[in-house]
Amino acid sequence: MKAVILAGGSGTRLSPFTKIINKHLLPVGSYPMIYWPIKRLKQAGINEILIVTNEEDLVSFKKVLGAGEELGVILSYTIQKEKGKGIANALNCAKDFVDDKFVVLLGDNLFDDDLSPYLEDFKKEKYEAKVLLKEVKDPKRYGIAFIDEIKHTIISIIEKPKNPISKYCVTGIYFYDRNVFGLIQSLSPSKRGELEITDLNNLYINRNELNYDILKGWWLDAGTHEALFEANKHFFEGE
Ligand code: G1P
Repeated sequence: MKAVILAGGSGTRLSPFTKIINKHLLPVGSYPMIYWPIKRLKQAGINEILIVTNEEDLVSFKKVLGAGEELGVILSYTIQKEKGKGIANALNCAKDFVDDKFVVLLGDNLFDDDLSPYLEDFKKEKYEAKVLLKEVKDPKRYGIAFIDEIKHTIISIIEKPKNPISKYCVTGIYFYDRNVFGLIQSLSPSKRGELEITDLNNLYINRNELNYDILKGWWLDAGTHEALFEANKHFFEGE
């Protein structure tokens, strides 16, 4: 299986640092943030990884990570040409890289779980897509899944709900197959002009093709100053 890490975006919530450095290269513990999701992929036996980033940041990524020699993985890079067009648009840039079932990580998602069991299940499952959920204290910040735990189904996902009806955040750990690129073509930009990953996942829900699991261990979206501080605390204390 191959993996795609989405590491573009403007990182405005981490300004002013992100005026001069891509969010995913900011320090977490003794390494750039993106080191950690790469490490988790390697742990799950995934060696072929595509990094999708912005044109201006590509040089920095290559300087820090090269072709993955130090990390023991095979890294390649591609550029998201259209800025601010959303996560699903960034994912579409991986079209020529993936073959069948693959993993997508948002590069600011840091977690302790070993991905292997989720990967193995997804390989065997009949579902075309899968998301990993995590209970959070501040659901207004995320894509939130309303689930039927008895039937083990996701009923719907709402992006940054004003009145959250659940505490299950859809983390930036997604599993898809090649059909995803056809579905991305059918998406329309949201009010903020982006192709939303939540709209994409809701298309899978409508087709009864979205499965889920719940992450067991620590998880964090390091996209704010406070979360970045938490991430640093976690990795300095733990690793
Ligand atoms: C993105 C997704 C959201 C998801 C989150 C996880 O939000 O849009 O659905 O819950 O990542 O990290 P963003 O962090 O880009 O606001």
